[in-house]
Amino acid sequence: MFDVDGFIEKSTRYIREAVGDDCAVVAVSGGVDSTTAAVLAYRALGEKLHPVFIDTGFMRLGEDVHVPKLLRSVLPNLTVLKERSRFYEAVMGVPDAEEKRKRFREVFYRVLSEFAEKVGCRKLVQGTIAPDVIETTGGIKTQHNVLRDVGLDPVSRYGFEVVEPLRELYKDQVRMVARKLGVPREIVERQPFPGPGLLVRCVGACSPEKLSVLRVADKMFTGLVEYLGWRPSQYLVAVWESERHPGKTLEIDGIRMEAYAARATGVKGDARAYGLVYVADVDPRSALEKFLWAKLTSLDRDAVRLVARLWSGGGGKYVVAIRAVQTEDFMTADVALPDRETLEVIVEGLSGIRNVAEIVYDVTPKPPATIEYE
Ligand code: XMP
Repeated sequence: MFDVDGFIEKSTRYIREAVGDDCAVVAVSGGVDSTTAAVLAYRALGEKLHPVFIDTGFMRLGEDVHVPKLLRSVLPNLTVLKERSRFYEAVMGVPDAEEKRKRFREVFYRVLSEFAEKVGCRKLVQGTIAPDVIETTGGIKTQHNVLRDVGLDPVSRYGFEVVEPLRELYKDQVRMVARKLGVPREIVERQPFPGPGLLVRCVGACSPEKLSVLRVADKMFTGLVEYLGWRPSQYLVAVWESERHPGKTLEIDGIRMEAYAARATGVKGDARAYGLVYVADVDPRSALEKFLWAKLTSLDRDAVRLVARLWSGGGGKYVVAIRAVQTEDFMTADVALPDRETLEVIVEGLSGIRNVAEIVYDVTPKPPATIEYE
């Protein structure tokens, strides 16, 4: 059994010792990991902690307004830094998933480094948790908050030492700690959200137009999921162009499949794969029952995902993909499907968004897909 009180006492002591006579900066996104690390650090350091919320421009619609308000109830001295243009300049138009993540990480830490210098601190508290470290060192994807484990020295590069009180914990344990510390319920129960935010769901080269479709689709989808009372472990939408990969088609059990030009991330064995997304005109339920993804990956080694088409029409240019999973630890995951009525309402909502050409349902478990698209 995880001893929550014992952990809080031990990590408070650890933070005090690690920071010593110095002060510390912490970047808080409003996600459960970074908020819990910040509240623990605030407990340990009081006003010697400088929490900062960075508006990267890849947050969900409205989060840059709502989240700082919510956070100030537990972190009264929060600073908000509006840095959208710097992030956009670095990552918009970059097609490769890992390159996008690395560029995002660089701007993120530059911004933090400048802030730390301004307030005169040489320590950075981070909410890195065990799966972040495992997935990054395993070469699956570059989690934006993992530095030392991939050979980047934060001291020489950014001028601060990193303090990571949650490094040994898994998500459910972080939530237990958060509850005990009085973190607002909305944050404790929040969906996991990747550090680079919607950037990794704006599949391929991101543009302001694509990001705007994604932000509206995300708001519509998450709003409806919550309103209709469906509760998968994690649910998200991703957007890419409906353009096809020239010459990549397959037929399995009489079902024709086409690949998109866009690529997505998956896991094969213990390694990262960056491959093709196939689409089939088939009901998601029957795709799952037929284990089509398994047949697909045995026929095309480049395939990392299979999506089932729910709707196509309009004159748009983008695909909106729905991904919902059921999982305990987020290291492996099953596909979650709502009932038919719920799905119909979601399609009705999403198909009304300007510039949407197709709506698809991701029917790939993890592995071979990851939960996120990049
Ligand atoms: P994947 O896509 O690797 O995701 O199957 C597993 C879980 O981790 C979340 N995730 C991230 N969290 N920084 C984070 O803090 C990241 O860069 C990141 N990438 C993925 C993802 O949402 C899922 O819950």
